[in-house]
Amino acid sequence: MDDEFNVAPRCMKKTRQASLGRTGPVPARWRRDVGRVLISERQIARRVRELSAEIQRDFAGRETVVVSLLSGTVMFLADLMRLLTLPLRLDFIGVSSYGPGTTSGELVFTKELRLDVKGRDVLLVDDILDTGRTMTKVLAKLRALKPRRIKVCVLLDKAARRVEPVQADYAGFEIPDYFVVGYGMDFGERYRNLPFIGVLKDEVSGKPG
Ligand code: IMP
Ligand code: MG
Repeated sequence: MDDEFNVAPRCMKKTRQASLGRTGPVPARWRRDVGRVLISERQIARRVRELSAEIQRDFAGRETVVVSLLSGTVMFLADLMRLLTLPLRLDFIGVSSYGPGTTSGELVFTKELRLDVKGRDVLLVDDILDTGRTMTKVLAKLRALKPRRIKVCVLLDKAARRVEPVQADYAGFEIPDYFVVGYGMDFGERYRNLPFIGVLKDEVSGKPG
């Protein structure tokens, strides 16, 4: 892999579309499996702060329910939430696609929402907006519960992979079509504990090349 890549913080302002630049080497303890760091801990932390400021502004004075999708959002949610000083409630929806590895299969709900969202503002949080199939299905389910409004917040947006017409209201970074791991995101349920977002070596992810 070469070390030139573009990962842009996704933001309305054009000036923010700059490349993040170099992220540094893969920490020694992860070097066996991880080919490169795509987004570093520092870059994540900075962007999460920016997102939290936007959300804080937009949800001020509202009865907010944060609905987070299990399990890839675990670190993002924890970091984002502690920066919000809104009076919010938190609940989770479990959704999983059959099939191991990097291909998504049929979607099944593994945990249902328990809090009442009727008439409330919902902030729906996911790790990655990829084809958009998961988000579309979850949005349909939530809309049926009659919230006042739903805003979608994702850490990563793989816009080029979209199949369903769905967009995030808040997106941390737009990334190319890499399968990424770390900061909560997995490959076959592993690598969620990496503190950065990385790309696995081809021999680990099973990609030819
Ligand atoms: P979608 O339904 O295709 O948009 O897929 C969204 C879900 O697939 C995300 O919530 C992730 O859990 C998972 N996913 C998509 N791309 C990746 C990736 O690069 N790494 C880890 N999980 C991913
Ligand atoms: Mg997910």
